[in-house]
Amino acid sequence: MSPKLSDEKLAVLGAGKLGGILLRAYLKQGLFVSNRVVATVKHAERAAALAKELGITVTTDNREAVKGADIVLLTIKPQTVLEVLQEIAPEIGADALLVSVAASVPTGFVEQQLAAATDGKRDEVPVVRAMPNTPAAVGCGMTAICGGAHASRDHLEIARTMFDAVGRTIVLDEKHMDAVTGLSASGPAFAYIILESLAEAGVKVGLARDVATVLAAQTMKGAASVVLETGDHPALLKDAVTTPAGCTIDGILELEEGKLRVTLIKAVVKATQSRGSRRGREKSAGRIDQVARRCAICCRRSTETIAGGQRETDRQDACDRRRKIARHTRKTPWRIVQACERST
Ligand SMILES: NC(=O)c1ccc[n+]([C@@H]2O[C@H](COP(=O)([O-])OP(=O)(O)OC[C@H]3O[C@@H](n4cnc5c(N)ncnc54)[C@H](OP(=O)(O)O)[C@@H]3O)[C@@H](O)[C@H]2O)c1
Repeated sequence: MSPKLSDEKLAVLGAGKLGGILLRAYLKQGLFVSNRVVATVKHAERAAALAKELGITVTTDNREAVKGADIVLLTIKPQTVLEVLQEIAPEIGADALLVSVAASVPTGFVEQQLAAATDGKRDEVPVVRAMPNTPAAVGCGMTAICGGAHASRDHLEIARTMFDAVGRTIVLDEKHMDAVTGLSASGPAFAYIILESLAEAGVKVGLARDVATVLAAQTMKGAASVVLETGDHPALLKDAVTTPAGCTIDGILELEEGKLRVTLIKAVVKATQSRGSRRGREKSAGRIDQVARRCAICCRRSTETIAGGQRETDRQDACDRRRKIARHTRKTPWRIVQACERST
């Protein structure tokens, strides 16, 4: 059974396109109630307009918004995440859940920044990372979610309920998030190209463009619905439409000759790799490098160390401190050990 969220206080930080889509769905469906929802944006005039439209409190004050929030939903751009995390960390409640949709921002980064900004006081914040896609705007989204080091099954269920409000949700391991970006987040663009091409084809064989577009779109929607509802392999469903010596097989032969399959496969692979290498570029530019250097307990010290040019000594201190705290809390999670290794 889905968890009941209407008693929870929600703070949506960065209610832009995606945040707005989610907020509208929550309020319309009564998933959250308006007097327990706060949202933030950057510009005061947008805050006023959104508050009027949605009937909720919208402010530009992130710290105020997260005070007392049970769930904090981060829908800001990835490049704003660090600044906002540092801003809100001291106000995040001990039991609050943080859900982030920022593309390419690992849960470890969020956890570490919250711990760093609070001198380790918020070093166990449950974080769920999500990658939705644009059809969420019409309730047909596909979202993959993954949990960070401190996210429990219940936290994942809460996040699942929040994204089920705009479509389907799947729980995956974080290592698959680049692949999700390449397939379901970029996927709508690939599907629109296929749809547009089918409509063009309809025009070529004499249909009016609007008729051709509806035929193409409803056909794609219908085919997708059959796959989702029956669970049948697409190849079997294709075979069922293809009569021996009929017209469909002639069309399929054209598709094979035009290498449609391999082209689509390569498009998804390229989008996945490009997401990975983009993260690599960000890393070498020093943005995500902080993730590797900062650990849940000593990250601030590690950064100062580098700035101060005394890497070796201070990093050693930092590691000792980490080990002590790990012993004290009877926890030596692999993440801490890994962060330790990476930082040396
Ligand atoms: N759009 C999608 O389909 C999609 C899909 C998957 C993931 N995502 C992720 O969703 C996030 C948001 O994307 P989007 O397309 O919705 O972007 P967007 O429309 O530009 O929204 C960003 C919002 O953040 C606000 N903002 C900027 N700085 C802020 C600050 N310091 N404090 C509070 N709010 C601040 C902006 O306020 P103003 O309105 O006042 O400028 C704007 O409302 C990104 O991280 C993206 O990776 C988006």
